[in-house]
Amino acid sequence: MHRVHIATFFTPDAPPSREESSESTANTLRELYAYPEDTRRPWVRVNFVSSIDGAVSVDGVSGALGTPADKLVFDTLRELADVVVVGAGTVRAENYGGVRVGAEGRRRRAESGMAEVPPIAVVSARALLDPHSRLFTDTEVPPIVVTCTGADPARVQALADAGARIVTAGAGQVTGAGLISALDDLGLRRVLCEGGPSLFGQLTHDDAVDEVCLTTAPVLVGGTAGRVATSPHARTTAMTPAHILTDTDGTVLTRWVRLPRP
Ligand SMILES: NC(=O)c1ccc[n+]([C@@H]2O[C@H](COP(=O)([O-])OP(=O)(O)OC[C@H]3O[C@@H](n4cnc5c(N)ncnc54)[C@H](OP(=O)(O)O)[C@@H]3O)[C@@H](O)[C@H]2O)c1
Repeated sequence: MHRVHIATFFTPDAPPSREESSESTANTLRELYAYPEDTRRPWVRVNFVSSIDGAVSVDGVSGALGTPADKLVFDTLRELADVVVVGAGTVRAENYGGVRVGAEGRRRRAESGMAEVPPIAVVSARALLDPHSRLFTDTEVPPIVVTCTGADPARVQALADAGARIVTAGAGQVTGAGLISALDDLGLRRVLCEGGPSLFGQLTHDDAVDEVCLTTAPVLVGGTAGRVATSPHARTTAMTPAHILTDTDGTVLTRWVRLPRP
């Protein structure tokens, strides 16, 4: 067993003698979370925050689990991604708007040949999204809706009229392979999936996850909140740690990478 002790400091009350400047921390995080250089095939990264006792939400949303370190990593991961994929349940629960990227982030993205702002791609079998919600009204770039042939055509049309790019992948459900192929066709290969648990469960079941970034927030929650991935059938995928970081407030940030496929 290894005792991991890699101290990084994000919170303002970190001991000055060991504190990194926020700029240097941000640079370090961009390096630690860099996607593989070879982008010929999509790389699927999933990011979640959970309480110590495994809850993914408090009163139906994840906001109460956030910490300064988690927020910094959350924003860093968004800056590094071509697309932010999320399930419709999370969009509905969290009232998702478009991704925001600051001026420096935009410059870095443009310099590396990326769009200045990544789109949100929502996976929704039923195309059950409110065309007047923030997803459509509070965004700089049009969202993508990945839906199924079984979705109500009137709903799909309403989302297209609200500005969404509609992608159809599958009949009653979007599989991991179907999602990856659809994003690949759009040239979106640095994939960041922000959940939720049903979508992550599907991707896990389909062996479509290359990497998991998991924050453990230093709180106990109890209650009835679910865990980070749920699916009808279990499937074990071996992962190896790329890094484990800690913050002074007790936040633990882990990055797990799938062992190479044979
Ligand atoms: N702690 C965290 O980091 C974190 C992250 C994300 C979410 N959450 C929490 O998780 C909860 C939501 O959980 P959830 O399981 O409902 O989230 P979800 O996976 O985002 O949403 C489920 C919905 O997404 C669509 N969907 C998911 N997988 C699909 C597939 N393979 N094919 C087609 N459609 C698919 C379906 O939408 P339609 O019904 O429209 O067909 C389904 O009803 C919220 O409380 C949220 O706050 C926490």
